[in-house]
Amino acid sequence: MKDKEILDEKGLARRKILVGTGALAAGATLSQFSGLLKPAAATGGKTEKWPWPYKKLDPAETAEIAYNEWYRVFCGAAVINSVFSQLREKVGEPYVSFPSDAFVFLEGGQVGWGTICGSPAGANIVANLIIGPRIAGADAGHFIAADIMQWYSEAKLPTYTPRKPRLTSEIPTTTSDSPLCHISVGKWMKAADKALKSPERKDRCARVAASTAYRLVELLNQWHAGDYESTGDFSCAAEFGITGQFNCMDCHGADVPEPPVMKKS
Ligand code: HEC
Repeated sequence: MKDKEILDEKGLARRKILVGTGALAAGATLSQFSGLLKPAAATGGKTEKWPWPYKKLDPAETAEIAYNEWYRVFCGAAVINSVFSQLREKVGEPYVSFPSDAFVFLEGGQVGWGTICGSPAGANIVANLIIGPRIAGADAGHFIAADIMQWYSEAKLPTYTPRKPRLTSEIPTTTSDSPLCHISVGKWMKAADKALKSPERKDRCARVAASTAYRLVELLNQWHAGDYESTGDFSCAAEFGITGQFNCMDCHGADVPEPPVMKKS
C-alpha cells in the first residue's frame, strides 16, 4: 500500500511492465521444459525437477573451459559453465535453459565482498544440482560440497596448469586454509607480491577456477561410476560448536573463544 502511495503514474506503469516481462519469461521457461515443470499452483509450489542428469566428463577438458571462461565471466560462472556447457551438448535440458552467466556475481567472493571464493561456490552449485537433495544415506552432493571446501582449503593452489596459459611467467602456489576469497587471494598476493589488478593475480584466479573444475569433475565421475568416497573429514560445527573453517587462529590469534554449550532446560 505504501508502495502505491509513493509511486507516481510513471512508476506504477514501469512496475507493471517489470511484472509483465517476469511473467512472460517464466512462461517461456515452462514451455521449454515442456511437461517437466508444472505450474506452482498445481504442484503445491513444487515446480522443480531435480536432480539433473550427468554424463562422464573429462577433467582436463573441463579445466580448460573453466580457465578460458574465467576471462569472460570470472570464477563462479566459469566453473558452472565448464561443466554445464558440456552437459548442454551431451544431455540437453535442463542445462540448455540454465543461465550459468547469472552466477557472475560469485566473482570476488560475491560481488567483491571476499566471502566464499566463487570457484568452490560454483562447484557446489553444480554438485548439488546434479546429485540432488540431501536425503539420509544419499547426500553425496552435500559431501562433494564439503570435499570441495576442504580440498580448496588444503591444496596448494592453483593445482592445474592450462595447456596454453595466457601468462608464461611462474605463478606461485599457496595454501589458504580457508575457502574465503579474501584469505585465499590475500595469502597468494602476499606470496607473489602482486596486486589484485595484476595480470598474474588474474591468471592465478583463472587457474584456481580451472583447478576446482578439474577436482569437481573427478569427484562427479567417481560418484557417477559408483565408487565415490568422501575425502573430507572436517565439520567445524561438530568439532568446535560453531560454523566456520579450521583457521581459527588466523583471526583470533592464540585466544580462540569457546562457544557456549547447550544447557539442559
Ligand atoms: C575469518 C576470521 C575468523 C575465523 C577464521 C574464525 N573466527 Fe571466530 N569470530 C570471528 C569474529 C570477527 C568474531 C566476532 C567476535 C566478537 O564479536 O567479539 C568471531 C566470533 C567467534 C565466537 C563467538 C564469540 C565469542 O567471542 O565467543 C566463537 C566461539 C568463535 N568465533 C570461535 C571460532 C573458532 C573455534 C574458529 C575456528 C574453528 C573461529 N572462530 C574462526 C572471526 C573469525
